[in-house]
Amino acid sequence: MKHILEALDQRRAGAKKGGGDKRIEAQHARGKLTARERIELLLDKGSFEEFDMFVEHRSVEFGMDKTKIPGDGVVTGWGTVNGRTTFVFAKDFTVFGGSLSETHALKITKLQDMALKARAPIIGLYDAGGARIQEGVAALAGYSYVFRRNVIASGVIPQISVIMGPCAGGDVYSPAMTDFIFMVKNTSYMFVTGPDVVKTVTNEVVTAEELGGASVHATKSSIADGAFSDDVETLLQMRRLLDFLPSNNTEGVPEWPSFDDIERTEESLDTLIPANPNQPYDIKELILKVVDEGDFFELADTFAKNIVTGFGRIAGKTVGFVANQPMVLAGVLDSDASRKAARFVRFCDAFNIPIVTFVDVPGFLPGTAQEYGGLIKHGAKLLFAYSQCTVPLVTVITRKAYGGAFDVMASKEIGADMNYAWPTAQIAVMGAKGAVEIIFRQDIGDAEKIAARTKEYEDRFLSPFVAAERGYIDDVIMPHSTRKRIARALAMLKDKHVDVPMKKHDNIPL
Ligand code: HXC
Repeated sequence: MKHILEALDQRRAGAKKGGGDKRIEAQHARGKLTARERIELLLDKGSFEEFDMFVEHRSVEFGMDKTKIPGDGVVTGWGTVNGRTTFVFAKDFTVFGGSLSETHALKITKLQDMALKARAPIIGLYDAGGARIQEGVAALAGYSYVFRRNVIASGVIPQISVIMGPCAGGDVYSPAMTDFIFMVKNTSYMFVTGPDVVKTVTNEVVTAEELGGASVHATKSSIADGAFSDDVETLLQMRRLLDFLPSNNTEGVPEWPSFDDIERTEESLDTLIPANPNQPYDIKELILKVVDEGDFFELADTFAKNIVTGFGRIAGKTVGFVANQPMVLAGVLDSDASRKAARFVRFCDAFNIPIVTFVDVPGFLPGTAQEYGGLIKHGAKLLFAYSQCTVPLVTVITRKAYGGAFDVMASKEIGADMNYAWPTAQIAVMGAKGAVEIIFRQDIGDAEKIAARTKEYEDRFLSPFVAAERGYIDDVIMPHSTRKRIARALAMLKDKHVDVPMKKHDNIPL
């Protein structure tokens, strides 16, 4: 018996070596951890249970029958993150460059099926060279099995992809269909076709970083929802993110102990809005002062910075925040901001995370670049996303809520539950100057008349009270009481239920 147990130990030890010491050293020399080291950091200590450690590929072409490595380039299994079940797969770059073979794909699909049955999140750690070139169509079919399961699981369990090395060819589309993608700065890159193919086809000369590094995907393409400095920081941030997320679409948000009084008032918020309505202020200050313990996980913080999205907690429970940022482009809604916020709103709604919206928006961004780029369709995405929400929606207008953007930013009329305004709110079709120049065009040139008309318009419309008098907002609240009022509204709405007509699925403008 002893001999049999030792043999098992030996086989396990062999499998854990992956592609061997030399390749592990090379991995470390590049500033990257190995697949198993990454899993150890991501999950609670000692909680990882591996599946399919001894699986080998079945390929015989190009001498592959003589090169079998247990595990076949991907480590799969489950463990816990702060006690909550989490499924994980990590591509092992030391084994055939983490490339995907038929059996490698089957290991991932087994994990996907298990995660879906267990209704628990799945995290994929990528460090891989695409389809196993020696396998051909078996590898391509393998990707399709994975893709289909990504789609079936979408909206049922959270799916997170973390790019920690190369992610090329077939490897890019599974992450693209998950809920979030994060990257490691400088050591990861992601593209459909690499620099060599780009040069051949288009004559462009680019480096891997210029083509698909974190600097590109977290700022320009919006493929990544965030980037962190190294493997360790990235994995610790993923643990933090998981603490905000429900395990599935029926369980509801996790609840953590909080020592932050929901009655807490913040006097400094009474002076957050500058006297000059055109002067910016940082909306993140409001978010940080409202959430429990100032703990806010921001998503896409370097893309479309004119809108802020992310998770915080109130009374220990996760809340999604969407807020116009007056510090960037005056908080205007453009195509990128609309797409960014729409995707976030839909994630929250799919997983029953209530949404708090802070509004300070001068409208949609005018111009040919925006119109040619499909602003109408992109703006409609956010409008559609909010309108289809069945989760609790609480909206606070801090300053401007002009034009169509008033409607889009979780107005009561598209389905928000509680809509508050600060006394500094200005709810109007447009700003006073623009309005007066249109309705009193005949007076342009008469400075005195225009000034009087502007004042008249400001007095009448640039306050929250016209909207409050008609019930378009529910109350005008003191800024210092914002946390308390939101907490009370969310408590009141905790069992919110909305019936929606049966349909196969909607047809959101894509
Ligand atoms: C088999 C692969 C491999 C692959 C890498 N390796 N990619 N083996 N299939 N796709 C192996 C290498 O042979 C090498 O083995 C080891 O992994 C490390 O690779 P290196 O090239 O030495 O590493 P590096 O210089 O860091 O370059 C990494 C890389 C490069 C950029 C990922 O390996 C590369 O370009 N690979 C091919 C990428 C690719 O074209 N993939 C197919 C995409 S098509 P040894 O034994 O020397 O250590 C595709 C279609 C699917 O995916 C579409 C589905 C929708």
